[in-house]
Amino acid sequence: MKYTRELLKDVEGYVPGEQPKIPGIIKLNTNENPYPPSPKVMEALRALSPDALRKYPDPLSVNFRRAYAERFGYPGPEWVLAGNGMDELLALAIRTFVNPGDAVLASYPTYSLYEVLCQLHGCRIVYVDLDDNFQLPESFFSTPARMCLLTRPNAPSGVSAPREAVERLCREFDGIVVIDEAYVDFGGDNCMDFPKRFENAIVMRTFSKSFSLAGMRLGTAVAQPAIINEFMKTKDSYNLDACSQAAALAAIQDYDYMESNVAKVRATRARLRAELQQLGFDVPESQSNFLLARWNGAPPAKEIFETLRTQNILVRYFNLRGLQNALRITVGTNAECDALLEALNVILKRN
Ligand SMILES: Cc1ncc(COP(=O)(O)O)c(C=O)c1O
Repeated sequence: MKYTRELLKDVEGYVPGEQPKIPGIIKLNTNENPYPPSPKVMEALRALSPDALRKYPDPLSVNFRRAYAERFGYPGPEWVLAGNGMDELLALAIRTFVNPGDAVLASYPTYSLYEVLCQLHGCRIVYVDLDDNFQLPESFFSTPARMCLLTRPNAPSGVSAPREAVERLCREFDGIVVIDEAYVDFGGDNCMDFPKRFENAIVMRTFSKSFSLAGMRLGTAVAQPAIINEFMKTKDSYNLDACSQAAALAAIQDYDYMESNVAKVRATRARLRAELQQLGFDVPESQSNFLLARWNGAPPAKEIFETLRTQNILVRYFNLRGLQNALRITVGTNAECDALLEALNVILKRN
């Protein structure tokens, strides 16, 4: 296409997981929460006045940012940035802190959007491979770059780097450290206190997973006010619409509800992992709402994925280095996981 910028010539763009509208489909491919969002979120949306839609929303989302800061023990909204999904904030972080041509460090495998965002910005992603247990190798800490993007818990492995490793990174890495905590509510510990202690730490979270609000598009970044100020220069003026701001405030104020859904997902995750292991999959212990099921038998993982697809059961298959023998399976309801296990039993026994 002759009109496109030079930079985009070789960029394919990010391909998100499928969102087919097939009634009854079992959707275990995009790490959505199988349970509905808080009733208080729905109430807040219904209570929106026509005026709230007629007028521009608060460009700074102050009510929500204040409530969020309070929730996590931060002094005020100046420590928090709200965004139209965490994906927007990841793109903004690169746009705000990375020069075209600079290096951005990430572990491999990781959230594959990072690479696309770097391509779009004209900077270089530098991958350092995780070890066989999905842990950071020593060389990760000494690789120079302008920014480091660290998914914790990692996607698609579900495994978390030790908190001490992230702490060391913040201390030793000469650049911004973005800690992507998209899945952290499903795990054990977290790094939400790091921005208080490290001027280069940015902790990002999303409401798409634990809060069951993927359709709303809500993400947050917590960092020192000087960092948040820089983001204010690059974000869209009204990056959070009125509905999102109302939903975000209601969701953060109903934290217990989120935690009760997370507890259900965690219980199902333990059962699903044990059953997948029984079937012969190698499944690392996950701190997320998905499991990476590695499979070296027959039929190959890709074929299992395709057969499940014909039965209206969607999981995720990545045709990427190191992941070709694996399926990433979102933890659904107990009934959804039972249906998946039943289908897998048939597919695997047929061979
Ligand atoms: C590791 C990771 N970070 C960020 C996101 C994006 O979250 P959001 O839906 O808020 O854009 C995802 C979504 O799947 C993710 O897996």
